[in-house]
Amino acid sequence: MEFIVKSGTPEKQRSGCIVVGVFETRKLSSVAHQIDEVSGGALSLHLRRGDIEGKPGQTLLLHNIANLPSERLLLVGCGKEKEFNETRYRETTAKVASVLRDTGATEVTSYVTELDVKGRDISWKIRQAVEVTEATLYRFDQLKSKPNNSRRALRRMVLAVPKRSDLGPGELAIKQGRAIADGMKLARDLGNLPGNICTPTYLAEQAIEIGKEYGLKTTVLEKEEMQKLGMGALLSVARGSRQPPKLIVLEYHGEKESEPPVVLVGKGLTFDAGGISIKPAANMDEMKYDMCGGASVLGAVKAAAQMKLPLNVIGIVPSSENLPDGDANKPGDIVTSMSGQTVEVLNTDAEGRLILCDSLTYAERFKPAAVIDIATLTGACVIALGAHASGLLANNDQLAREILSAGKYAHDRAWQLPLWDEYQKQLESNFADMANIGGREAGTITAACFLARYAKNFKWAHLDIAGTAWKTGREKGATGRPVALLVQFLINRAHKGGADTAA
Ligand code: BES
Ligand code: MN
Ligand code: ZN
Repeated sequence: MEFIVKSGTPEKQRSGCIVVGVFETRKLSSVAHQIDEVSGGALSLHLRRGDIEGKPGQTLLLHNIANLPSERLLLVGCGKEKEFNETRYRETTAKVASVLRDTGATEVTSYVTELDVKGRDISWKIRQAVEVTEATLYRFDQLKSKPNNSRRALRRMVLAVPKRSDLGPGELAIKQGRAIADGMKLARDLGNLPGNICTPTYLAEQAIEIGKEYGLKTTVLEKEEMQKLGMGALLSVARGSRQPPKLIVLEYHGEKESEPPVVLVGKGLTFDAGGISIKPAANMDEMKYDMCGGASVLGAVKAAAQMKLPLNVIGIVPSSENLPDGDANKPGDIVTSMSGQTVEVLNTDAEGRLILCDSLTYAERFKPAAVIDIATLTGACVIALGAHASGLLANNDQLAREILSAGKYAHDRAWQLPLWDEYQKQLESNFADMANIGGREAGTITAACFLARYAKNFKWAHLDIAGTAWKTGREKGATGRPVALLVQFLINRAHKGGADTAA
Protein backbone atom coordinates (compact mmCIF):
# COMPACT_ATOMS: atom_id res chain seq x y z
CA MET A 1 0.00 0.00 0.00
CA GLU A 2 1.01 3.57 -0.62
CA PHE A 3 1.32 5.98 2.30
CA ILE A 4 1.57 9.75 2.09
CA VAL A 5 1.57 12.56 4.63
CA LYS A 6 -0.62 15.60 4.33
CA SER A 7 -1.59 18.52 6.51
CA GLY A 8 -5.05 20.04 6.22
CA THR A 9 -8.50 19.99 7.72
CA PRO A 10 -10.93 17.10 7.12
CA GLU A 11 -13.73 19.15 5.60
CA LYS A 12 -11.41 19.93 2.69
CA GLN A 13 -10.29 16.31 2.04
CA ARG A 14 -12.01 14.35 -0.69
CA SER A 15 -11.30 10.81 0.42
CA GLY A 16 -12.96 7.40 0.35
CA CYS A 17 -12.99 7.42 4.13
CA ILE A 18 -11.92 9.83 6.83
CA VAL A 19 -10.84 8.20 10.09
CA VAL A 20 -11.12 10.05 13.39
CA GLY A 21 -10.92 9.07 17.04
CA VAL A 22 -13.51 9.16 19.82
CA PHE A 23 -12.42 8.92 23.45
CA GLU A 24 -14.26 7.37 26.30
CA THR A 25 -16.88 8.39 27.29
CA ARG A 26 -18.39 9.90 24.13
CA LYS A 27 -15.66 12.52 23.81
CA LEU A 28 -14.77 13.60 20.30
CA SER A 29 -11.10 14.08 19.46
CA SER A 30 -10.31 17.57 18.23
CA VAL A 31 -10.52 16.67 14.51
CA ALA A 32 -13.77 14.77 15.15
CA HIS A 33 -15.06 17.86 16.92
CA GLN A 34 -14.17 19.98 13.89
CA ILE A 35 -16.20 17.67 11.64
CA ASP A 36 -19.05 17.76 14.10
CA GLU A 37 -19.10 21.57 13.88
CA VAL A 38 -19.09 21.80 10.08
CA SER A 39 -21.71 19.06 9.78
CA GLY A 40 -24.09 20.71 12.18
CA GLY A 41 -23.68 18.15 14.94
CA ALA A 42 -23.86 14.94 12.88
CA LEU A 43 -21.40 13.17 15.16
CA SER A 44 -22.78 14.33 18.49
CA LEU A 45 -26.13 13.01 17.33
CA HIS A 46 -24.67 9.53 17.08
CA LEU A 47 -22.96 9.88 20.42
CA ARG A 48 -26.21 10.92 22.07
CA ARG A 49 -27.97 7.94 20.55
CA GLY A 50 -25.34 5.71 22.11
CA ASP A 51 -23.99 4.36 18.78
CA ILE A 52 -20.40 4.58 20.02
CA GLU A 53 -18.98 5.28 23.46
CA GLY A 54 -15.31 5.47 22.56
CA LYS A 55 -14.25 2.18 24.15
CA PRO A 56 -11.05 0.72 22.69
CA GLY A 57 -11.84 -1.33 19.60
CA GLN A 58 -15.28 0.16 18.95
CA THR A 59 -15.91 1.50 15.46
CA LEU A 60 -18.76 3.20 13.68
CA LEU A 61 -18.86 3.67 9.91
CA LEU A 62 -21.00 6.61 8.75
CA HIS A 63 -22.00 7.85 5.30
CA ASN A 64 -23.18 11.15 3.84
CA ILE A 65 -22.02 13.49 6.57
CA ALA A 66 -23.21 17.02 5.75
CA ASN A 67 -20.47 19.31 4.40
CA LEU A 68 -17.89 16.52 4.36
CA PRO A 69 -16.73 15.85 0.80
CA SER A 70 -15.52 12.35 1.72
CA GLU A 71 -17.74 9.33 1.07
CA ARG A 72 -17.39 7.78 4.48
CA LEU A 73 -16.41 8.61 8.00
CA LEU A 74 -15.00 6.00 10.35
CA LEU A 75 -15.16 6.73 14.07
CA VAL A 76 -12.80 4.62 16.11
CA GLY A 77 -12.90 4.18 19.87
CA CYS A 78 -9.61 5.07 21.58
CA GLY A 79 -10.44 4.47 25.24
CA LYS A 80 -9.77 7.05 27.94
CA GLU A 81 -7.87 10.03 26.63
CA LYS A 82 -5.50 9.99 29.62
CA GLU A 83 -4.66 6.34 28.96
CA PHE A 84 -3.96 6.72 25.25
CA ASN A 85 -0.45 5.28 25.20
CA GLU A 86 1.79 3.51 22.68
CA THR A 87 -0.02 0.22 22.95
CA ARG A 88 -3.44 1.86 22.52
CA TYR A 89 -2.18 3.80 19.55
CA ARG A 90 -0.97 0.61 17.91
CA GLU A 91 -4.18 -1.25 18.72
CA THR A 92 -6.30 1.60 17.36
CA THR A 93 -4.22 1.70 14.18
CA ALA A 94 -4.59 -2.06 13.72
CA LYS A 95 -8.34 -1.87 14.30
CA VAL A 96 -8.68 0.87 11.69
CA ALA A 97 -6.75 -1.19 9.14
CA SER A 98 -8.86 -4.29 9.63
CA VAL A 99 -12.16 -2.35 9.41
CA LEU A 100 -11.04 -0.41 6.33
CA ARG A 101 -10.05 -3.64 4.63
CA ASP A 102 -13.71 -4.62 4.60
CA THR A 103 -15.10 -1.31 3.34
CA GLY A 104 -15.06 -0.50 -0.36
CA ALA A 105 -12.77 2.48 0.18
CA THR A 106 -9.63 2.53 -1.93
CA GLU A 107 -8.16 5.78 -0.62
CA VAL A 108 -8.48 6.81 2.98
CA THR A 109 -7.28 9.61 5.22
CA SER A 110 -6.48 8.88 8.83
CA TYR A 111 -6.39 11.49 11.55
CA VAL A 112 -5.45 8.91 14.18
CA THR A 113 -1.87 10.14 13.66
CA GLU A 114 -2.88 13.50 15.11
CA LEU A 115 -3.90 12.06 18.49
CA ASP A 116 -1.45 12.75 21.30
CA VAL A 117 0.60 9.77 22.45
CA LYS A 118 2.53 10.47 25.62
CA GLY A 119 6.22 10.99 24.91
CA ARG A 120 5.98 10.21 21.19
CA ASP A 121 6.29 12.69 18.35
CA ILE A 122 4.77 12.74 14.90
CA SER A 123 7.66 10.76 13.36
CA TRP A 124 7.06 7.89 15.74
CA LYS A 125 3.32 7.93 15.11
CA ILE A 126 3.71 7.97 11.32
CA ARG A 127 6.21 5.14 11.37
CA GLN A 128 4.07 3.02 13.61
CA ALA A 129 1.04 3.73 11.43
CA VAL A 130 2.86 2.37 8.38
CA GLU A 131 4.28 -0.67 10.19
CA VAL A 132 1.12 -1.63 12.07
CA THR A 133 -1.15 -1.10 9.05
CA GLU A 134 1.03 -3.27 6.81
CA ALA A 135 1.37 -5.92 9.52
CA THR A 136 -2.41 -6.01 10.01
CA LEU A 137 -3.17 -6.36 6.31
CA TYR A 138 -0.58 -9.13 5.91
CA ARG A 139 -1.90 -12.50 4.81
CA PHE A 140 -0.02 -15.65 3.92
CA ASP A 141 -2.17 -17.44 1.37
CA GLN A 142 0.32 -18.20 -1.39
CA LEU A 143 -0.01 -21.93 -0.72
CA LYS A 144 -3.80 -22.13 -0.77
CA SER A 145 -5.05 -23.59 -4.05
CA LYS A 146 -7.77 -20.94 -4.16
CA PRO A 147 -6.27 -17.80 -2.68
CA ASN A 148 -8.87 -15.77 -0.84
CA ASN A 149 -9.36 -13.35 -3.71
CA SER A 150 -11.58 -10.88 -1.96
CA ARG A 151 -10.09 -7.87 -3.74
CA ARG A 152 -7.80 -5.80 -1.60
CA ALA A 153 -9.51 -2.50 -2.21
CA LEU A 154 -7.36 -0.36 0.03
CA ARG A 155 -4.58 1.17 -2.06
CA ARG A 156 -3.59 4.43 -0.49
CA MET A 157 -3.56 5.85 2.99
CA VAL A 158 -3.07 9.52 3.72
CA LEU A 159 -1.67 10.10 7.18
CA ALA A 160 -2.62 13.47 8.57
CA VAL A 161 -0.09 15.67 10.35
CA PRO A 162 -1.09 18.73 12.36
CA LYS A 163 1.46 21.22 10.98
CA ARG A 164 3.09 21.87 7.63
CA SER A 165 6.48 21.62 9.34
CA ASP A 166 5.65 17.98 10.16
CA LEU A 167 5.63 17.05 6.48
CA GLY A 168 9.42 16.61 6.16
CA PRO A 169 9.85 14.41 9.24
CA GLY A 170 6.67 12.61 8.24
CA GLU A 171 8.06 11.69 4.85
CA LEU A 172 11.25 10.32 6.39
CA ALA A 173 9.12 8.34 8.84
CA ILE A 174 7.18 6.82 5.95
CA LYS A 175 10.40 5.84 4.22
CA GLN A 176 11.69 4.16 7.36
CA GLY A 177 8.33 2.58 8.18
CA ARG A 178 8.11 1.26 4.63
CA ALA A 179 11.57 -0.33 4.84
CA ILE A 180 10.81 -1.91 8.21
CA ALA A 181 7.42 -3.17 7.03
CA ASP A 182 9.01 -4.69 3.91
CA GLY A 183 11.74 -6.32 6.01
CA MET A 184 9.12 -7.74 8.35
CA LYS A 185 7.05 -9.06 5.46
CA LEU A 186 10.10 -10.84 4.07
CA ALA A 187 10.82 -12.37 7.49
CA ARG A 188 7.19 -13.44 7.91
CA ASP A 189 6.94 -14.99 4.45
CA LEU A 190 10.14 -16.98 4.92
CA GLY A 191 9.05 -18.04 8.40
CA ASN A 192 5.61 -19.16 7.29
CA LEU A 193 6.90 -21.21 4.37
CA PRO A 194 7.02 -24.89 5.32
CA GLY A 195 10.23 -26.84 5.74
CA ASN A 196 9.77 -28.72 2.47
CA ILE A 197 9.91 -25.44 0.55
CA CYS A 198 12.03 -23.20 2.74
CA THR A 199 15.19 -25.30 2.85
CA PRO A 200 18.74 -24.00 3.40
CA THR A 201 19.10 -23.89 -0.40
CA TYR A 202 15.90 -21.84 -0.69
CA LEU A 203 17.09 -19.37 1.96
CA ALA A 204 20.38 -18.99 0.10
CA GLU A 205 18.50 -18.33 -3.16
CA GLN A 206 16.41 -15.66 -1.45
CA ALA A 207 19.55 -13.99 -0.11
CA ILE A 208 21.03 -13.99 -3.60
CA GLU A 209 17.84 -12.35 -4.92
CA ILE A 210 18.03 -9.62 -2.26
CA GLY A 211 21.69 -9.17 -3.10
CA LYS A 212 20.87 -8.68 -6.78
CA GLU A 213 18.06 -6.24 -6.05
CA TYR A 214 20.19 -3.99 -3.85
CA GLY A 215 23.63 -4.59 -5.32
CA LEU A 216 24.97 -6.40 -2.26
CA LYS A 217 27.84 -8.82 -2.16
CA THR A 218 26.35 -12.24 -1.43
CA THR A 219 28.43 -15.29 -0.63
CA VAL A 220 27.08 -18.76 0.03
CA LEU A 221 29.55 -21.14 1.63
CA GLU A 222 28.94 -24.78 0.74
CA LYS A 223 29.69 -27.85 2.82
CA GLU A 224 33.17 -28.28 1.30
CA GLU A 225 34.17 -24.74 2.23
CA MET A 226 32.84 -25.21 5.73
CA GLN A 227 34.90 -28.36 5.99
CA LYS A 228 38.03 -26.43 4.94
CA LEU A 229 37.29 -23.82 7.59
CA GLY A 230 36.87 -26.53 10.20
CA MET A 231 33.26 -25.77 11.05
CA GLY A 232 32.82 -29.12 12.79
CA ALA A 233 29.97 -27.99 15.03
CA LEU A 234 27.80 -26.60 12.23
CA LEU A 235 28.52 -29.57 9.97
CA SER A 236 27.69 -32.08 12.71
CA VAL A 237 24.12 -30.75 12.83
CA ALA A 238 23.72 -30.96 9.05
CA ARG A 239 24.97 -34.56 8.88
CA GLY A 240 21.55 -35.97 9.69
CA SER A 241 19.89 -34.15 6.80
CA ARG A 242 19.63 -34.77 3.05
CA GLN A 243 19.51 -31.01 2.49
CA PRO A 244 22.96 -29.50 2.09
CA PRO A 245 23.80 -26.85 4.69
CA LYS A 246 24.54 -23.28 3.62
CA LEU A 247 26.35 -20.42 5.26
CA ILE A 248 24.85 -17.30 3.77
CA VAL A 249 26.74 -14.01 3.93
CA LEU A 250 25.17 -10.77 2.78
CA GLU A 251 27.23 -7.57 2.81
CA TYR A 252 25.76 -4.10 2.70
CA HIS A 253 28.26 -1.26 2.51
CA GLY A 254 26.71 2.13 3.23
CA GLU A 255 30.04 3.73 4.07
CA LYS A 256 33.75 3.19 3.45
CA GLU A 257 34.64 -0.51 3.45
CA SER A 258 37.26 0.21 6.09
CA GLU A 259 34.60 1.18 8.64
CA PRO A 260 33.92 -1.70 11.06
CA PRO A 261 30.53 -3.25 10.28
CA VAL A 262 27.67 -4.34 12.48
CA VAL A 263 27.43 -8.09 11.98
CA LEU A 264 24.05 -9.78 12.39
CA VAL A 265 24.08 -13.56 12.75
CA GLY A 266 20.74 -15.36 12.44
CA LYS A 267 19.91 -18.98 13.21
CA GLY A 268 18.54 -20.50 10.00
CA LEU A 269 17.41 -23.96 11.10
CA THR A 270 14.78 -24.65 8.44
CA PHE A 271 13.36 -27.57 10.42
CA ASP A 272 14.27 -28.73 13.90
CA ALA A 273 12.98 -32.21 14.71
CA GLY A 274 15.54 -32.41 17.51
CA GLY A 275 17.71 -35.00 15.78
CA ILE A 276 18.28 -38.27 17.68
CA SER A 277 17.09 -36.46 20.85
CA ILE A 278 13.84 -36.19 18.94
CA LYS A 279 11.11 -33.77 19.98
CA PRO A 280 7.59 -34.86 20.96
CA ALA A 281 5.04 -34.83 18.11
CA ALA A 282 2.77 -32.10 19.51
CA ASN A 283 3.31 -28.81 17.67
CA MET A 284 6.46 -30.09 16.03
CA ASP A 285 5.30 -28.40 12.82
CA GLU A 286 6.17 -25.10 14.49
CA MET A 287 9.83 -26.00 14.27
CA LYS A 288 9.66 -24.78 10.66
CA TYR A 289 9.96 -21.39 12.42
CA ASP A 290 13.42 -22.28 13.70
CA MET A 291 14.90 -20.18 10.88
CA CYS A 292 13.18 -16.97 11.98
CA GLY A 293 16.42 -15.51 13.35
CA GLY A 294 17.99 -15.95 9.93
CA ALA A 295 14.92 -14.50 8.23
CA SER A 296 15.05 -11.43 10.50
CA VAL A 297 18.67 -10.89 9.51
CA LEU A 298 17.74 -10.97 5.82
CA GLY A 299 14.86 -8.58 6.55
CA ALA A 300 17.06 -6.15 8.48
CA VAL A 301 19.85 -6.11 5.89
CA LYS A 302 17.29 -5.56 3.14
CA ALA A 303 15.76 -2.65 5.10
CA ALA A 304 19.18 -1.06 5.70
CA ALA A 305 19.94 -1.28 1.98
CA GLN A 306 16.52 0.08 1.04
CA MET A 307 17.05 3.10 3.31
CA LYS A 308 20.65 3.46 2.11
CA LEU A 309 21.77 3.81 5.72
CA PRO A 310 25.29 5.24 6.03
CA LEU A 311 26.60 2.15 7.81
CA ASN A 312 28.20 -1.19 7.01
CA VAL A 313 26.08 -4.22 7.85
CA ILE A 314 26.94 -7.87 7.34
CA GLY A 315 24.31 -10.57 7.64
CA ILE A 316 25.39 -14.14 8.32
CA VAL A 317 22.83 -16.94 8.23
CA PRO A 318 24.00 -20.48 9.00
CA SER A 319 21.32 -22.76 7.63
CA SER A 320 20.64 -26.44 8.11
CA GLU A 321 18.01 -28.96 9.11
CA ASN A 322 18.18 -30.99 12.34
CA LEU A 323 16.80 -34.48 11.71
CA PRO A 324 17.30 -38.00 13.05
CA ASP A 325 19.29 -40.21 10.69
CA GLY A 326 21.83 -43.02 10.71
CA ASP A 327 24.55 -40.41 10.22
CA ALA A 328 23.14 -37.81 12.60
CA ASN A 329 24.80 -36.46 15.75
CA LYS A 330 24.40 -38.91 18.64
CA PRO A 331 24.25 -37.95 22.32
CA GLY A 332 27.81 -38.11 23.60
CA ASP A 333 29.43 -37.33 20.27
CA ILE A 334 32.29 -34.85 20.52
CA VAL A 335 32.79 -32.33 17.75
CA THR A 336 35.51 -29.75 17.14
CA SER A 337 34.31 -26.26 16.36
CA MET A 338 36.09 -23.83 14.02
CA SER A 339 37.58 -22.06 17.06
CA GLY A 340 39.32 -25.28 18.07
CA GLN A 341 37.13 -25.70 21.15
CA THR A 342 35.59 -29.18 21.49
CA VAL A 343 31.94 -29.78 22.36
CA GLU A 344 30.24 -32.82 23.82
CA VAL A 345 26.82 -33.07 22.20
CA LEU A 346 24.78 -34.32 25.15
CA ASN A 347 21.49 -33.36 23.52
CA THR A 348 21.23 -33.20 19.74
CA ASP A 349 18.26 -30.87 20.13
CA ALA A 350 20.54 -28.11 21.42
CA GLU A 351 21.68 -27.64 17.81
CA GLY A 352 21.17 -23.90 17.43
CA ARG A 353 24.23 -23.05 19.48
CA LEU A 354 26.24 -25.55 17.41
CA ILE A 355 25.50 -23.83 14.12
CA LEU A 356 25.85 -20.38 15.68
CA CYS A 357 29.20 -20.94 17.39
CA ASP A 358 31.03 -21.55 14.12
CA SER A 359 29.25 -18.57 12.58
CA LEU A 360 30.43 -16.34 15.43
CA THR A 361 33.98 -17.50 14.86
CA TYR A 362 33.53 -16.78 11.16
CA ALA A 363 32.23 -13.28 12.02
CA GLU A 364 35.64 -12.37 13.50
CA ARG A 365 37.10 -11.93 10.02
CA PHE A 366 34.95 -8.86 9.45
CA LYS A 367 36.53 -7.04 12.41
CA PRO A 368 33.06 -6.10 13.61
CA ALA A 369 32.09 -2.99 15.57
CA ALA A 370 29.49 -5.25 17.20
CA VAL A 371 27.95 -8.65 16.60
CA ILE A 372 24.32 -9.45 17.38
CA ASP A 373 23.05 -12.98 16.97
CA ILE A 374 19.34 -13.66 16.72
CA ALA A 375 17.99 -17.13 17.38
CA THR A 376 14.93 -19.15 18.34
CA LEU A 377 17.27 -20.79 20.79
CA THR A 378 15.51 -22.03 23.91
CA GLY A 379 12.08 -23.15 25.02
CA ALA A 380 13.16 -21.79 28.41
CA CYS A 381 12.98 -18.26 27.05
CA VAL A 382 9.31 -18.77 26.18
CA ILE A 383 8.71 -19.81 29.78
CA ALA A 384 10.68 -16.86 31.17
CA LEU A 385 9.40 -14.00 29.01
CA GLY A 386 6.43 -15.32 27.06
CA ALA A 387 5.53 -13.74 23.74
CA HIS A 388 6.11 -10.08 24.58
CA ALA A 389 9.83 -9.65 25.05
CA SER A 390 12.83 -11.21 23.34
CA GLY A 391 15.59 -12.34 25.70
CA LEU A 392 18.77 -10.26 25.57
CA LEU A 393 22.18 -11.28 26.83
CA ALA A 394 25.41 -9.44 26.11
CA ASN A 395 29.08 -9.27 26.97
CA ASN A 396 28.98 -5.47 26.77
CA ASP A 397 26.55 -3.30 28.72
CA GLN A 398 26.66 -0.31 26.41
CA LEU A 399 25.66 -2.54 23.49
CA ALA A 400 22.89 -4.09 25.59
CA ARG A 401 21.54 -0.63 26.43
CA GLU A 402 21.55 0.36 22.76
CA ILE A 403 19.55 -2.73 21.87
CA LEU A 404 17.06 -2.31 24.72
CA SER A 405 16.46 1.29 23.76
CA ALA A 406 16.07 0.51 20.05
CA GLY A 407 13.53 -2.15 21.00
CA LYS A 408 11.61 0.27 23.18
CA TYR A 409 11.40 2.90 20.44
CA ALA A 410 10.40 0.36 17.81
CA HIS A 411 7.92 -1.26 20.19
CA ASP A 412 9.70 -4.55 19.57
CA ARG A 413 11.01 -4.98 23.04
CA ALA A 414 13.74 -7.07 24.64
CA TRP A 415 14.53 -7.81 28.27
CA GLN A 416 18.04 -8.40 29.56
CA LEU A 417 19.05 -11.52 31.47
CA PRO A 418 22.38 -11.89 33.31
CA LEU A 419 25.38 -13.52 31.70
CA TRP A 420 27.38 -14.05 34.90
CA ASP A 421 30.39 -16.33 34.97
CA GLU A 422 28.79 -18.44 37.70
CA TYR A 423 26.45 -19.94 35.11
CA GLN A 424 29.36 -21.14 32.96
CA LYS A 425 29.96 -24.05 35.35
CA GLN A 426 26.78 -25.72 34.16
CA LEU A 427 28.43 -26.34 30.79
CA GLU A 428 31.36 -28.32 32.15
CA SER A 429 32.04 -31.67 30.47
CA ASN A 430 34.18 -34.57 31.64
CA PHE A 431 35.30 -35.32 28.10
CA ALA A 432 35.35 -32.14 26.03
CA ASP A 433 35.95 -28.41 26.55
CA MET A 434 32.24 -27.96 27.17
CA ALA A 435 28.88 -29.67 26.88
CA ASN A 436 26.19 -28.29 24.60
CA ILE A 437 23.59 -28.24 27.39
CA GLY A 438 23.64 -26.85 30.91
CA GLY A 439 20.83 -28.69 32.67
CA ARG A 440 17.31 -27.67 33.56
CA GLU A 441 18.11 -24.43 35.38
CA ALA A 442 18.46 -21.13 33.54
CA GLY A 443 18.33 -22.69 30.08
CA THR A 444 18.32 -19.39 28.21
CA ILE A 445 21.32 -18.13 30.15
CA THR A 446 23.41 -21.28 29.76
CA ALA A 447 22.69 -21.29 26.02
CA ALA A 448 24.02 -17.73 25.86
CA CYS A 449 26.99 -18.75 28.06
CA PHE A 450 27.83 -21.34 25.43
CA LEU A 451 27.79 -18.71 22.68
CA ALA A 452 29.76 -16.25 24.83
CA ARG A 453 32.71 -18.63 24.65
CA TYR A 454 32.84 -17.88 20.92
CA ALA A 455 32.36 -14.14 21.24
CA LYS A 456 35.37 -13.18 23.32
CA ASN A 457 37.03 -11.08 20.63
CA PHE A 458 34.23 -8.58 19.96
CA LYS A 459 31.31 -6.75 21.49
CA TRP A 460 28.47 -9.19 21.30
CA ALA A 461 24.80 -9.49 22.11
CA HIS A 462 22.41 -12.38 21.75
CA LEU A 463 18.65 -12.14 21.19
CA ASP A 464 16.64 -15.23 22.05
CA ILE A 465 13.46 -14.87 20.00
CA ALA A 466 11.92 -18.28 20.75
CA GLY A 467 8.85 -16.59 22.25
CA THR A 468 8.52 -13.61 19.92
CA ALA A 469 9.26 -14.82 16.39
CA TRP A 470 5.93 -16.52 15.80
CA LYS A 471 2.48 -16.90 17.31
CA THR A 472 0.98 -20.27 18.16
CA GLY A 473 -2.63 -21.38 18.26
CA ARG A 474 -5.44 -19.94 16.18
CA GLU A 475 -3.33 -17.00 15.05
CA LYS A 476 -0.39 -19.22 14.13
CA GLY A 477 2.10 -17.32 12.01
CA ALA A 478 5.45 -15.54 11.92
CA THR A 479 5.51 -12.08 13.51
CA GLY A 480 8.47 -10.55 11.68
CA ARG A 481 10.14 -9.82 15.02
CA PRO A 482 12.75 -8.60 15.78
CA VAL A 483 13.23 -6.85 12.42
CA ALA A 484 11.90 -3.56 13.80
CA LEU A 485 14.30 -3.67 16.75
CA LEU A 486 17.29 -4.52 14.56
CA VAL A 487 16.55 -1.85 11.98
CA GLN A 488 16.07 0.75 14.72
CA PHE A 489 19.42 -0.28 16.17
CA LEU A 490 21.00 0.23 12.74
CA ILE A 491 19.26 3.60 12.23
CA ASN A 492 20.55 4.77 15.61
CA ARG A 493 24.07 3.57 14.82
CA ALA A 494 23.98 5.31 11.45
CA HIS A 495 22.88 8.60 13.00
CA LYS A 496 25.05 8.54 16.09
CA GLY A 497 24.42 11.76 17.96
CA GLY A 498 20.99 12.26 16.40
CA ALA A 499 18.54 12.36 19.30
CA ASP A 500 15.34 12.01 17.32
CA THR A 501 14.95 8.27 17.61
CA ALA A 502 16.35 7.55 21.06
CA ALA A 503 14.21 5.48 23.42
N1 BES B 1 14.59 -24.48 18.38
C1 BES B 1 14.60 -24.98 19.70
C2 BES B 1 14.12 -23.98 20.72
C3 BES B 1 12.63 -23.78 20.81
C4 BES B 1 11.83 -24.74 21.38
C5 BES B 1 12.06 -22.61 20.38
C6 BES B 1 10.47 -24.53 21.49
C7 BES B 1 10.71 -22.40 20.51
C8 BES B 1 9.91 -23.36 21.05
C9 BES B 1 16.02 -25.37 20.09
O1 BES B 1 16.80 -25.88 19.08
C10 BES B 1 15.91 -26.42 21.13
O2 BES B 1 15.45 -27.48 20.83
N2 BES B 1 16.33 -26.10 22.36
C11 BES B 1 16.25 -27.00 23.44
C12 BES B 1 17.53 -26.90 24.21
C13 BES B 1 17.67 -27.95 25.28
C14 BES B 1 17.83 -29.31 24.64
C15 BES B 1 18.86 -27.61 26.14
C16 BES B 1 15.06 -26.60 24.31
O3 BES B 1 14.84 -25.40 24.52
O4 BES B 1 14.34 -27.48 24.74
MN1 MN C 1 16.55 -27.97 18.87
ZN1 ZN D 1 16.33 -25.32 17.20
